[in-house]
Parts: sequence; structure tokens; C-alpha cells
Amino acid sequence: MFPKEFLWGGAIAASQAEGAWDEGGKGIDSQDLRFFDPSWDRAQRDQNRNINMTSERFETALASKDVGHYPFRTGIDFYHTYRQDIDLFSELGIKVFRTSISWARIFPNGDDEKPNEEGLRYYEDMFRYCKEKGIKVFCTILHYNIPVNLITRYGGWKSRETIKHYVRYATTLYERLGDLVDYWLPFNEINCSRFNPYNGCCLIKDQEADYINSIFQCTHHQMIANALAVKAAHEILPGSMVGGMIARFTTYPATCRPEDVMETILEENYKNYFYTDIMARGHYPSYAKRMFKENGIHIQMEDGDEAILCENTVDFLAYSYYMSMVASTDKDIEKTSGNLVSGNRNRYLKMSEWGWQIDPIGLRISLNEMYDRYQLPIFIAENGIGAKDGLEEDGSIHDPYRIDYLREHIRQMDEAIEDGVDLIGYTMWGFIDIVSCGTIEMSKRYGVIYVDRNEDGSGSNKRFRKDSFYWYKNMIRSNGLDL
Ligand code: BG6
Repeated sequence: MFPKEFLWGGAIAASQAEGAWDEGGKGIDSQDLRFFDPSWDRAQRDQNRNINMTSERFETALASKDVGHYPFRTGIDFYHTYRQDIDLFSELGIKVFRTSISWARIFPNGDDEKPNEEGLRYYEDMFRYCKEKGIKVFCTILHYNIPVNLITRYGGWKSRETIKHYVRYATTLYERLGDLVDYWLPFNEINCSRFNPYNGCCLIKDQEADYINSIFQCTHHQMIANALAVKAAHEILPGSMVGGMIARFTTYPATCRPEDVMETILEENYKNYFYTDIMARGHYPSYAKRMFKENGIHIQMEDGDEAILCENTVDFLAYSYYMSMVASTDKDIEKTSGNLVSGNRNRYLKMSEWGWQIDPIGLRISLNEMYDRYQLPIFIAENGIGAKDGLEEDGSIHDPYRIDYLREHIRQMDEAIEDGVDLIGYTMWGFIDIVSCGTIEMSKRYGVIYVDRNEDGSGSNKRFRKDSFYWYKNMIRSNGLDL
């Protein structure tokens, strides 16, 4: 049974939804520079997903005013439509809305002396409108997009300067929006850099002499920034709830061979726990030493860093969960795709059209593992299925596959609560269709609200209720009983 106060909701991110990339005083940011071609086939789109940013791609994008090949520049125009959209969220009956702030709307260059008032007012109005509708706000401070000037001037997260500017940005948000936000998340999926170094920490590959080392140096700086953001929130907003988030990859051994079981432990540590251990336990885990040694990683830490991490651990944990993974020492095992990473095929599971392995029980497993390890409240900050939807002539959209996906995952969350997990909320991902983060497609839709917008820029941009909209609404009204 879900507790009475369980937070049912929906999540999006500024860069994938807002558009208006050059309006309201916003500066250009890292996601505005990601290129997409609507004529690409599936293989080309997949290849583009984790493509490394190069100086050439970066400079070309920076010089271009084109929007057709840079879909994050237009998003779904949420910048202008947020009031109508929040009306729909309210009709759905969600209790909480998770979105991110665009750093470059607040500090267009990242290091400006003063914040941009128009940007602050935009989020203030948006969050106030949520409050008027009785919707709590779950605010991600950084969901990948950082002001480009911080990359060109300081090297982004490689530099401690970026920590300083990030903390000033977070502090500005606490001071201005503190009374409107209920839950804070300093970073979206802080483990992303390991899999997508441009999205995660804005690295440009050809500018790095030692790519892997730079990734972990950036991660260290992000961990310090995360801890300092926790500290500032607790000082400025006593009693505030600040979370730590990862993309969670539940991992199974391919066989019961001890080698595969050991491989599973290593992958879990490497991909998941390394990050949550630092944020929740307040120090680098014991296995990090060997991991760093074997990968030739040398992180530069400053005096006082250990104390910062130790004294400012998170109040809750959040993670995205889409699919599970399989660990094996057999390199020839069949492969498939997944969120951020590709992995081994699990023949017991069905897959989405994009090759992500659908595994509701994996969610229950991860909830048990995470709660048992940290004993902190947990928020499922993202979960959902990307699929192609068809808009019928009468404006209906029939998406039984999405209802099935959500139903089965919610069932397993219910089981986890029965298991004793302190699960406090669920914000399904992309609950209004947005531009996909990985493949930058509009045709990979997650929403229960359809947005009539196509990859070539055509479409009315109108919103339509999918079948899953009515299902989700009813599910929320029954507090998870009517599935
Ligand atoms: C998460 C990201 O990793 O996955 C989101 O936080 C993203 O930004 C989501 O949209 C789904 O991935 P994709 O590539 O299908 O959009």
C-alpha cells in the first residue's frame, strides 16, 4: 500500500522542454550545441547518442544560429506554454512536478556578477503557479546544461572555478526560490560523466590528454559542488530536503559462475555505488583505491575536500530507473542498448523499440538494495518508456504499452514498500513529450501528454491526452490501488 502522502508526479528537464534558447536573457548552454539531423536512420541516431564532443563540432555549433539541427534550442516551447501545461498537470492530479533550472537563464555566462532577473522571475512564476495548483516542486539545479562560457573560459568541470560559480548559482536559487521548492536535487544523474562525458561534465574529447582521468577529476569537482550545495541549502533553508541522484543500473550476473558474480559486484560498484557512497556516506569507498589504480586515475584533491564530503551528505537518494543490465566475463554475449550505456542482453526480458530491457522486478530489487545499503528515503526521479505514438484523427492516442510499463513498475514499487523500503515519491519521466536526451529525437516519446511536434519542426505544438493520461490520473486518484 502506498502511504497517503506518497508523491505521485512527473518529471522533465529544462533543456529538453523549454526551447527559447536565446530569449529572456538566456546565454547559450552546452545542450544547445548538440547536433541532430532529422533524416538520420536508426543506426545513425544511435551512433550520435554517445558521440564524443569534438572541438570542431563545438565550434561549428557555437557559430550556428540554426534551430532545425539543434532541437534543444526549441524543445517543446515549454518556456511559453508552461501555464497551459501546468493546467494539464493539475488535471492529472499530480502531487509533485520535477523540473530543472537552466543555469544560463540565471547566469547567462555562468560567471556574471549579477543574476538575470528575467530568468529568476520566470522560474518564480512557474513555481508559484504550481503552488496555486497544489503541486509541490522538485527542483533539479543542474540537468546537464551549463553555460558555454564556463567551458570555453575555465574548461567546465575540470576547473575548481566552476565549483565556485555553481555554488553561487545554487545559493541564488535557494535565496530567491527557497520558499517555493519542496525538494532540491543539485545534480541530475551525477554518474552520467562516466558514460557520456559531454552531457555529464562537458568534456571535449580532443582537448583531453587523459580522457578517463579528466572524467574522474570532473566527478570529484561535482561531488564537492554537490556537498557544498547541500551545505548552503541547510544553512539558508533549515530543514530543506536535498537529494543525491544517479542513473541506476540494476545488474545481474549472466550465469552463476563465480566470475560473473564478481563481475556484477564490480559493475555495481563502478557504475552505481561509487557515486551514492560518496554522496550518502560522505567519503570515497574502499574499492575506489583499486579502481583508480587499475585505470591509472589520479585525482587532485585539496585540503579540506574530505571534510566537505563528510560533513554534507544528502538527505535522500533519487535515481532514474529504466532498465536492468547483465554482467558477464564472456565478451561474445549478445548486446543490446540501454539508458546512457549499452549492455548485455537478458533473454528473460522484453525490450522497448529502442532496445532497452524492460524489467519491473529490477526496480524492486534496486529499491531493496539501495535502502538496505543507505537507509535513506528514496525518490524514483525518472521512470518510463520511450515509444513511437500515433496521433489519431480524433485527437486520441492509444498507448497500451506505456500503461503496461507504468502499471508493472508501480506494482513493484508497492512490493518494495511492503518490503520495508522508505519510498517517498515517483516522478515518471517525460510525462509530457519532450526531446529525447540521448538520441535528440522527438519521435521517442515518454509522455502521457502528447505534443504535436515533429522532428522536422512541423506540427501544431498542441497538447493531447493519451490513453495513459486517463490511466495515470485514475491511478493517482486511487493512490496506486487502481492499476
Ligand atoms: C535520463 C536523463 O538518463 O534518461 C533524461 O536524465 C533522459 O534527461 C532520460 O531524457 C531518457 O533518455 P532518452 O535518451 O530516451 O531521452
